[in-house]
Amino acid sequence: DIKGFTFDLDGVITDTAKFHEQAWHDLALQIGVNWSDELGNQLKGISRMDSLNMILSAAGQQDKYSDEEKEAFTIQKNTHYVELIQGITPKDILPGMTAFLSEIKSGGYVASIASASKNAPKILEKLGIIDDFVGIVDPATLSHGKPDPEIFTKAGDILKLKPSQIIGLEDASAGVEAITAAGQTALGIGLAAKSASPKLWVASTADISLANIAAGMQNSN
Ligand code: BG6
Ligand code: MG
Repeated sequence: DIKGFTFDLDGVITDTAKFHEQAWHDLALQIGVNWSDELGNQLKGISRMDSLNMILSAAGQQDKYSDEEKEAFTIQKNTHYVELIQGITPKDILPGMTAFLSEIKSGGYVASIASASKNAPKILEKLGIIDDFVGIVDPATLSHGKPDPEIFTKAGDILKLKPSQIIGLEDASAGVEAITAAGQTALGIGLAAKSASPKLWVASTADISLANIAAGMQNSN
């Protein structure tokens, strides 16, 4: 039986994915790397330095910059990103998610955060929902980023549940792969998540509720 949920943050609880994309897009243009929607999708769920490396590789520039220069690029990107998220309020919680978090609480389920973002605690504070989660995995403690299962395994340990008792929510294909590899049930949200064949899938967060999930579990068995 399902007893808990591991949540990605960006693109699942709030639409900060668009701010990450904008900040990377602007940096890519500045350093002369062509942007594509496909590249934007591939970066979803990927850590800050890994994202920069993917952008540089996409343009054959993986060896062009020193570690110090790359560090400076990631700081520049994050400074821009932090500016973009300044105005976030509880109104920026994606459709359906406030109601779903209430259902989780009243149903006696537990939830934790498996976000690669070092900005996650700040965003959850701004959204006013940080207390809805038992804990947040600190991405600084990870040896491997998504699609490695490590972050979801740690988020499951926080819940003190077995993988079979957990549903993980993700908008990124790397994240869906990570959930599945951790032995949890993946609930994919949106088109980018679909390509990784999650066990459960919805087009939008507005479609997420305990009843819809229960129906989806029935159909997929
Ligand atoms: C993930 C986002 O949640 O966090 C990625 O999907 C982002 O786009 C990653 O690169 C790292 O975030 P941050 O805030 O630590 O740079
Ligand atoms: Mg995401």
